[in-house]
Order: sequence, then structure tokens, then C-alpha cells
Amino acid sequence: MNDVIARYLDAATRAAVAAPTKTAASLPPGLYTDPAVFEAENQRLFARTWMCAGYAHEVPNPGDALPSTVAGLPVVFVRGRDGVVRCFHNVCPHRGNKVVTRPLKGAPTLVCRYHGWGFDHQGALKLTPHWGGYGKPNDAGFDRACHGLTPVRMVHWHDWLFVNLSGDAPSFETFMAPFARHLEAHDLSRLRHESAATFNIGANWKLVEENFLEVLHLPTVHRGLNAVAPFQEHELVLEDACLGTIIRTGLPESWADPALPRFPGVAADNRTAFNLALFPTFKLVVGPDHCASMIEFPVDASHTHQRWDFYFVGDEALHDRYGPTRRAIIDFFSEVNSEDIGILEDMQATRASPVAANTVFSATWEPVVHGFQKLVARSLA
Ligand code: FES
Ligand SMILES: [Fe+2]
Repeated sequence: MNDVIARYLDAATRAAVAAPTKTAASLPPGLYTDPAVFEAENQRLFARTWMCAGYAHEVPNPGDALPSTVAGLPVVFVRGRDGVVRCFHNVCPHRGNKVVTRPLKGAPTLVCRYHGWGFDHQGALKLTPHWGGYGKPNDAGFDRACHGLTPVRMVHWHDWLFVNLSGDAPSFETFMAPFARHLEAHDLSRLRHESAATFNIGANWKLVEENFLEVLHLPTVHRGLNAVAPFQEHELVLEDACLGTIIRTGLPESWADPALPRFPGVAADNRTAFNLALFPTFKLVVGPDHCASMIEFPVDASHTHQRWDFYFVGDEALHDRYGPTRRAIIDFFSEVNSEDIGILEDMQATRASPVAANTVFSATWEPVVHGFQKLVARSLA
């Protein structure tokens, strides 16, 4: 069979993956290593769903532009004079060069460096130097209105810019309704961005997601985390594209002095932490006084670029006097993440082994990992 996915996921394997968690087969290891599978994921999964690919805080002013990559394809986010962030294919309609190659601040036009075509913030073609001859930007019969940047379907949700390259995914609201419902008591519009961190992980993106979705490794890998958020107290979440865990009793009352401002309406004794993923690559950790987004940017079959952004609640929370408390939270999460990376890279190395196909799930602790793998199998049909 020519289809690369069908080679790994024939009918019998699909049925085994779809079995009850206790007896289910895991996804075949080749799905984590084969470059042809990664290409199929770009086309069948990442291009067809909603992918978070940028941050509004990185384009705060008109003319700010941010190049990014979705499903292996170049896109660019631009904020217009009307304050609206838009997304375009980052491909020049002249001969196809990448238009924006680095973040821009306050650019009046987006100028392609190859032959100088320039586009306004709405993607309209405005500059075509020498197009009709030396010193003549116009050419008879050439209609600039037909040669603008191609828009990409985009939703701006709080700080996160989600795109759907194919243009025909279900509405963003439908897609993320269960995710939003879990967080409805938290006014995310209050979030203020504090800082970001990046991690380059030598593992397939799916291993990174799966690791986030189970807590059975907390007592072995994350003793510090397990001390404040014991693994046995997590509830599992598995609702459509929303996966993860919630712990309602775990967090300390404050991570350090002074205690940070909380989300409005979240009681002083609320110690709930949400660890929620929006399939395939977007994740939020939300506590009473903080939020971190974790987004994977898959690089190839065995490398993943991971970006963390830390947010606190209201302008007041960014005041210097809360610096030590913010630092305590960020350091804590950074430590937890660094504890995972070696495991993920070992897991990637073992995908090459013929016996890696014979793995099992805990029916108690790993239904969400299994649920993730079923979503992957379904989306690669
Ligand atoms: S390819 Fe962009 S101006 Fe020619
Ligand atoms: Fe972990």
C-alpha cells in the first residue's frame, strides 16, 4: 500500500488502538520516527485543525509582524492600524519568496526583499518597483488588486493566535468549547504576559503531548511537583479535543510572599490547578494566580520546539514587589519541564526498537494518553 499511514495503521492495528484502555495497543513506534508520517501529519492533521502559531503580545502595535510556521508552511501575523491581527501565507505573489523573514516593529508596509514588492497590513499589494520598466511601477493590464498576500483563517483568543490553514475546520468556538468551559470561572482577559522560555527537545511532538497528559510519572520524575500536587489527587479530563488533568486540592496557598493577585471571583482558599491540552499542540496550566501556555512547534519527526509563556493576573501582578513570587512559580515550572526532557529523548530513542510496539497503558492512570493516541489515529485517517 502506498499510503504511509495505512502502512502503519491498517484496519487491525486501528481496531487494536481503539480497544478499551486496559487491552489497547499503542500507536506503532514508526509513527514517531518516520519523516513521511511527519509530512502526513502536517497535511492531514496540522493543516486541517486549529493550531496556535503565535502570540498577540509579540505584535502589540500597528505594523508589527511575526513570521511563523504551521504544518511546515510559512505564515505571518500582522497587526493593522485598526488594531486587528491578521494572518497571511508568508509567500510573495511575485515569484514566491518569503516576505517577512524576521519579526518587524511598526513597519508601514511588508516589503519582500527579493524584488521589493510591498504589502499593506491587510495584505494588499502597494509597491511594485520598476514593474512596467525602469522607474515605472505600473504596467498596463496589471491589476495589483489581484496580487495581494493570501489570507489564512485565524482566531485571536486572548494572547494566542490560532490558525486553520485548510479553512474548513469546524468553528473555533465549537472546537474548543469543552476547554473553555473548564476555565470559565477564570477571566483570561486579565492575563498579563510576564516572560517566555523555549526548549528544544529531541523527541517527536506526540511524546511531548502524551507526557503532559498523565500523572503516573509525578512520584518518580517530579518529586517536587508531586509534593504539592500529589498524582493520586488529579482528576482526568477527556472531552473531544480537550484532554488533561485537574487537581482541586494541590497547590500551596502562596508560592512565596507576597501572595499574587488572583483571578477575580476565585476564592482565597481555591487551590485548583487545571492542566489542559487542546489537541493537538496547545496547553494551558491555570492556577488561582497564574497561567502558563505550553505550545509545541513540531520541527521534524524527532525534534520539537517547545515554547512556554508565563502570565499573571492583572497589571498589578507585574509590579516589582511580586517579582520573587513570580520567579518562584516560573522556576518551579521550569524545573519540572527540565525533568521531563531526558525521559522524552530516551522515549524517542526506544521508538527505533522492534519491541517498542509491545507497550501497555494503565487503565487507571493513562486513559487520557490513550485518548490522545486515538485522536491521532482518527485525524490521520
Ligand atoms: S519574489 Fe517577492 S518581490 Fe519578487
Ligand atoms: Fe512530566
